[in-house]
Amino acid sequence: MGNPCTMAGKLTNRRILVGISGGIAAYKSAELVRRLIDLGADVRVAMTKAAQEFITPLTLQALSGKPVSTDLLNTEAEAAMGHIELARWADLIVIAPASADIISRLAKGAGDDILTTLCLARRCPLAIAPAMNQAMWHNSSTQDNLATLQKHNIHQFGPDKGGQACGDIGFGRMSEPNELAQEVCQLFKTRTLEGKKVVITAGPTREAIDPVRYISNYSSGKMGYALAQAAAEAGARTILISGPTNLATPEHVECISVVSADEMLEACMNQVYESHTPCDIFIASAAVADYRPVDIAQQKIKKTDQDTMMLKMIKNPDIVASIANRTDSPLMIGFAAETQNVLENAQSKLLKKQLDLVVANDVSKTNIGFNSDDNAVTIITKDAVTEVPEKSKVQIAADIIDYVATYLTKKY
Ligand code: C5P
Repeated sequence: MGNPCTMAGKLTNRRILVGISGGIAAYKSAELVRRLIDLGADVRVAMTKAAQEFITPLTLQALSGKPVSTDLLNTEAEAAMGHIELARWADLIVIAPASADIISRLAKGAGDDILTTLCLARRCPLAIAPAMNQAMWHNSSTQDNLATLQKHNIHQFGPDKGGQACGDIGFGRMSEPNELAQEVCQLFKTRTLEGKKVVITAGPTREAIDPVRYISNYSSGKMGYALAQAAAEAGARTILISGPTNLATPEHVECISVVSADEMLEACMNQVYESHTPCDIFIASAAVADYRPVDIAQQKIKKTDQDTMMLKMIKNPDIVASIANRTDSPLMIGFAAETQNVLENAQSKLLKKQLDLVVANDVSKTNIGFNSDDNAVTIITKDAVTEVPEKSKVQIAADIIDYVATYLTKKY
């Protein structure tokens, strides 16, 4: 059973949709929702009609702090967050308890209520925690349905063996909420970068004009921080070199705070080439200011009678290109935030900056990218173009890290 202390923060920023189907074990779902929230997850709940006979949506709403989805055809709920949007929102759907009935409907690919429809429309992994009478569990129809779900890569947590509400003893008890929370943590944990060192730049840089003013951009740093979280979860020693952001450093990530592009370059050079542990992967996700003022005024610049003022700017060093420009460079990953000709511009960046991989995103779309929690990207190498559709930045980051880990094993 998972030790709650060592699991603390394990689900930070993870979006988990807890699906509840009809069964006496539904009372344990309330505890599961609490555990997941305690571990840092953002939790939403969807319930079948039968589930509402066992536990009220109000209880789950109070625990999750979010409206509970109970109805596919409710216009009010659809206006707040439609079912397709909710399916896209999730990084994981976990159905606990999963009754014999919902298992059968999932196996058929049904979309006849809110929960099955969310499962059909999802882009994330799905896990079920079966709970039913032992005879129903052993029934060959149930076992056939479970085999179908396994074929579709649907994860199964439990069930446990023991006393049942009906008095029978056997398989079919839903696993305890703490065990389920532990399984959820395990699902997010991959150790594909064990023993590797990853250096990631993130956030904006600030270029001083005088002691009280600077030039910067709207980068939130969310993508870089999500990449750092994913790299650390994949087992890498992860160094995040971050410009000013409001974000908390993810667990097991070493953060070096910098302000300007020059400081960021120096910290990167130190971590990649001067440190005694060699760097395996360099990811440049920072939105580095292209130019900085030539001179930083020592005193606050005073307003004058002139209507215009000139600020002479000089080009900043290109950090990712400076790191790539050596024969002993690590695997190099850059970002291309573009508003037009995304693919062409990203491909030219791949060559110009001598990168192994470019992650391109279209920042002209206002709902994703800069400052948003979601993103959709294209991963470009010299041989392949891979689309990663719109998801949370945390999930996109996990996908990018997976891709990078596979690429690394193929390259070396
Ligand atoms: O700004 P640009 O589109 O050229 O950025 C592409 C990539 O180069 C990004 O990965 C960014 O982090 C990196 N970059 C950098 N140093 C700069 C400018 C960009 O590392 N001065």
